[in-house]
Formats: sequence, structure tokens, C-alpha cells
Amino acid sequence: KDSDKQLVIDAGQKRFGAISCSICGMLYTASNPEDETQHILFHNQFISAVKYVVDEIREMVDNDLGFQQAPVTCSRTKTLLFISNDKKVTGCLIAEHIQWEGNERAGERKKGRKKERKKERKKERKKGDPRRGLLATAGQPGPEEEEEKEEEEKEEEKGYRVIEEKIPEVSTENEKVTFERQKAWCCSTSPEPALCGISRIWVFSMMRRKKIASRMLECLRSNFIYGSYLSKEEIAFSDPTPDGKLFATQYFGT
Ligand code: ACO
Ligand code: ZN
Repeated sequence: KDSDKQLVIDAGQKRFGAISCSICGMLYTASNPEDETQHILFHNQFISAVKYVVDEIREMVDNDLGFQQAPVTCSRTKTLLFISNDKKVTGCLIAEHIQWEGNERAGERKKGRKKERKKERKKERKKGDPRRGLLATAGQPGPEEEEEKEEEEKEEEKGYRVIEEKIPEVSTENEKVTFERQKAWCCSTSPEPALCGISRIWVFSMMRRKKIASRMLECLRSNFIYGSYLSKEEIAFSDPTPDGKLFATQYFGT
């Protein structure tokens, strides 16, 4: 044991000791070049594997939502995956930046976002809910690459607020539910300054109504723009399904 210790001498390196990468999860010693090399190899493999998995998940979610061929059109997207304790993807949220004239915050720099994500994951892990899984952001380029992309892609899309229809007054719970599911989804005519559009949100059928979607949205709100927490007004749902409407109505309190 003592000889092991002697292999690594703290010569004042800042990042001394075993650390666990917040992205790939590999445990390594930052001051050890061999470890660092191993980490970089594993890390890159992990990133490409995750990217591949996210594409497949997106396809599966699209099928589930009945999207025939609706690839995510804009690369300025963020994908959140909800991973259960048994390491299965049980939730997926795809969000994109909405660009509109005068939208100042959309141009904000995203430096240090990685740090934020790390913090969020830590927070998520700490809570210790039995349903709790690891909330991971995946399928997106690293911060440097991402910044470049954000310069290139500008999407012309505006968010419209959903207007709630009144539920008929004398109705049983059942009728209410039926009405909720059938009613038209009305939008206001004036665009609102939404910054973030939810293009997909999906939770594995057997895990619904356990606040997984709510938690993914919370995570999105604190990670979408570095250093600020998105208000509910800054988020818009695109083309929601009946389930999506019920969820959004409840979550956004519209
Ligand atoms: N019926 C009634 N109320 C609902 C429903 C529903 N089906 N789903 C959510 N809510 C409301 C409830 O008030 C719920 O709180 P409660 O369970 O304490 O009553 C609250 O919203 C929060 O719900 P969560 O548990 O956080 O939502 P969940 O994890 O179940 O996910 C989702 C909701 C994503 C809509 C899920 O039902 C789903 O994946 N459905 C199939 C895919 C889909 O249609 N996605 C939306 C597409 S729209 C789009 O992507 C832009
Ligand atoms: Zn790593």
C-alpha cells in the first residue's frame, strides 16, 4: 500500500488525486499521464456511443409520438435523457433555441455550461429518491464546438402561448378528462418572447405520472442558458399531443 502511494507524489499539482469524470463517469488520477490518456480514449468512445444511442432514442420517441419523418431540423438543440437506476433510458427531452427579433438572451454566451451540468447531476444524485435516476445531457457537442454552431444556425421560429379553453362547468371527472383530451389546442396570435422550444418530451409509458417529465423540465430550465434559470414564460411547447397538453397545462399553469 505504501509503495502504491509513492508512485504518485503530490508535487503541488492542483488536480491531485482520483477524480471521477462528470461526463463519462470514469475514475482516474488527473496527475497521472497514463490515466489521463486512458481517460481521453474512454471519454471519446463514450461520447460517440452516447451520440449514437441518442439518435436511436430520438427515432424511437418519434415513432411513439407518431412523427413519420420529422428529423430535428435545427442543430441548436439540447437533449436530456432520464436514466433510471437500472440504467434504462426512461425519459427524453429535446429542446431548441428559438430565435426572434430582439431576443437578446438567445445570443448569450454559454461558457462554463459544463460546470452547471455537473452541478445539476450532483444535485440530482444527492436527492436519494428511489425513483431517482441520473439525469444526463447527451448528444451534443462539447462547449467549444457548440459555441461555433450557435453562431451559424439561426432559426426563424416564434413561440405562441397556448390559450386554455374553459372546461364545461357541470361535468363528471370522466367527461372532464375526455374533454381535456379532445379539445382544440388554441394559440394566441401574438408571438411571445419564448427562448426555448420543447420539440419532444417523452417518458416511458410505465413510468409516467412520476414527475419525470417535470424533473427533466426543471433540469432544462437551469441548464439551457448558462447562469440563468429560464422562467416558464420563456419556454414554448411545439405541436403538443393530448398528453403533452395535459402535462404542459399543469406544469406551466396556463
Ligand atoms: N393526464 C393528465 N394529467 C397529466 C398527464 C396525463 N396523461 N400527464 C401529466 N399530467 C399532469 C399531471 O397533473 C401531473 O401531475 P400528477 O401526476 O401529480 O397529477 C403533472 O402533469 C406532471 O406530470 P409528470 O409526471 O411530470 O409527467 P410524465 O413524467 O408522466 O410525462 C409526458 C408527461 C411526457 C407527456 C408523458 O405522458 C409522455 O411521454 N407521453 C407520451 C409522449 C407524448 O405525448 N409527449 C408529449 C409530446 S408534445 C411535445 O413533445 C412537444
Ligand atoms: Zn470523461
